[in-house]
Amino acid sequence: MFGHRLIIIIAICAIITFESTISSVIHQPQTDHHDELKLVFLFHRHGERTPYLLYPNDPYKKIITETVGIGQLIEKGKQRLYRLGEYLSQRYYNDNGDRFSIKQKSPRKVYARSSGSERCLQSITLLLAGMFPPEGEWKWNDNLGSLWQPFAIQTVPFEHDTLLNPDYGCPVADHLSNEIYNSEEAENISQNYRNLFKKLANYTGYPSDEMDIVKASYIYDIILSESNFDLPPPEWLDDEMWNGMKILNDYVFSFNSSSRRIQRFRCGL
Ligand SMILES: *[C@@H]1O[C@H](CO)[C@@H](O)[C@H](O)[C@H]1NC(C)=O
Ligand SMILES: *[C@@H]1O[C@H](CO)[C@@H](O)[C@H](O)[C@H]1NC(C)=O
Ligand SMILES: *[C@@H]1O[C@H](CO)[C@@H](O)[C@H](O)[C@H]1NC(C)=O
Repeated sequence: MFGHRLIIIIAICAIITFESTISSVIHQPQTDHHDELKLVFLFHRHGERTPYLLYPNDPYKKIITETVGIGQLIEKGKQRLYRLGEYLSQRYYNDNGDRFSIKQKSPRKVYARSSGSERCLQSITLLLAGMFPPEGEWKWNDNLGSLWQPFAIQTVPFEHDTLLNPDYGCPVADHLSNEIYNSEEAENISQNYRNLFKKLANYTGYPSDEMDIVKASYIYDIILSESNFDLPPPEWLDDEMWNGMKILNDYVFSFNSSSRRIQRFRCGL
């Protein structure tokens, strides 16, 4: 399927946090003399975005929907992905005889696939722009064409994407997820954080019987995304609540892929 491609780049939209994705690509190349770079398989996430949902009392509804829009890449995220591309370019593309550098800088050597969400498509576009400014024959004019070249980015509509959309309807995965969230471990966590749930429901406007670990993680994500967009946190938020929400958010990421079976069904074929 990938033919003679040297670099395969895939933009995904969930499963792992952006920071951990970056740290997993920043490992040092091995320097064994017999090693030769054959293929790079790179997974990355999108850059910083606005929240993809808002809580009922969210004070920033208007400002977000009327500017960048819900769940969209923001300037900080554009900068990050472009810089990540530049970093990868330096890592694999130096001319000092580094055995790990890629000699042929042809865009034909790259296979790129993204989820169909706009922030992912824009992110992979920026990463490729930072990583592969055109060289030699690939320059196509003296202006933009000497700084940027187009790449084919493969994708499928998000709602039909069984590979890169972790929320693609899957009854088995949903069943496994229910088991995890109804487990004794999850029940204990909910019990320990019941005061936080009460406060969060009160301040955000969600009905208190709907507040749970997953909803608390959504609120955490919303406030984090808003602060990335330079919107100050709501005045009711204190350190204790924030730390509790962060712990719950970490639990959600770990629960959602906590068994081999759910990993397989969520990142399926
Ligand atoms: C849940 O809490 C109970 C009571 O504190 C404890 O005995 C039990 O070991 C906990 N279970 C898990 C899975 O953490
Ligand atoms: C509920 O929210 C109101 C303001 O919206 C606040 O005055 C009150 O202290 C809160 N109650 C609790 C239990 O957090
Ligand atoms: C975790 O799984 C729950 C239940 O399927 C889902 O609602 C939530 O969006 C998921 N969160 C993440 C960060 O994957």
